[in-house]
Amino acid sequence: MQIEPRRVEHQQTDKGYVPVYTTAVVEQPWASYTRTDHQTWATLFERQREILKGRACREFLDNQARFGMSPHAIPRFDELNAVLGKATGWTLVGVEGLLPELDFFDHLANRRFPVTWWIRKPEQLDYLAEPDLFHDLFGHVPLLLNPVFADYMQAYGRGGVKAHAIGAEALVNLTRLYWYTVEFGLIRQDGGLRIYGSGIVSSKGESIHCLESPAPNRIGFDLERIMRTRYRIDTYQKTYFVIDSFEQLMEATRPDFAPLYAQLATQPSIPAGEVRPGDAVFQRGSGEGWAQDGDI
Ligand code: PHE
Ligand code: CO
Repeated sequence: MQIEPRRVEHQQTDKGYVPVYTTAVVEQPWASYTRTDHQTWATLFERQREILKGRACREFLDNQARFGMSPHAIPRFDELNAVLGKATGWTLVGVEGLLPELDFFDHLANRRFPVTWWIRKPEQLDYLAEPDLFHDLFGHVPLLLNPVFADYMQAYGRGGVKAHAIGAEALVNLTRLYWYTVEFGLIRQDGGLRIYGSGIVSSKGESIHCLESPAPNRIGFDLERIMRTRYRIDTYQKTYFVIDSFEQLMEATRPDFAPLYAQLATQPSIPAGEVRPGDAVFQRGSGEGWAQDGDI
């Protein structure tokens, strides 16, 4: 029998009317996955591994291989935890779905990453509105093996607890940072652009769109700019922000954000697709190359 996630209620947030699940940590009910569930994992896994060759960053691809994730079956959290714990001290915990912000921050601040235990249905291969096991495990977990990124995620959790105490506007600013880095970030690597954002690597369409479509803007990482930039959750992004390295991300976000939140409170937000004077826009060069405004 298929265990369905229990929907507790819905809540109006800045992202719309969203389901709110139980906040409990649950054991991954591995034995209850059906053949169909394992097949869904296999299909998505094989499809994305193929698409991500030459598109995802080195750290993502290598670390996914280090976990031994394969199309054979849905991975067991406890087996992944054996590898992860030794490498960076993170632990995966099973959850029913999206958590209230403070619960989520508290997990991250303690180096626990919540993973939705259930996987999407076969008719949802290309899109579903909320994170499932494929997004969380395939998309987020590999980079937790990278020491710098692992520290960034914990720092984000701590920053979230702090922003939550400051107020709703601070949380909006901080959530945009998560969105444009952890979920939809691009990184400059080997003379080109590569994907590291989990929301991209778990989506076939967006993995191609973010690098190959002429439509979206690709702009050099700028903390304040990101914190002011709105985003859409139901379409491909109109803007991606590009980091040079995970070290850059760590350094840029190290200062206390409290004064920044206060300053941003006086400034209007920026529409998702806008390009502004001063943006370091990436333009496609010949072949694989990309050049940034301001490069010589
Ligand atoms: N430096 C941030 C603060 O003071 C914390 C943070 C670090 C937030 C990394 C996000 C990412 O709130
Ligand atoms: Co996610």
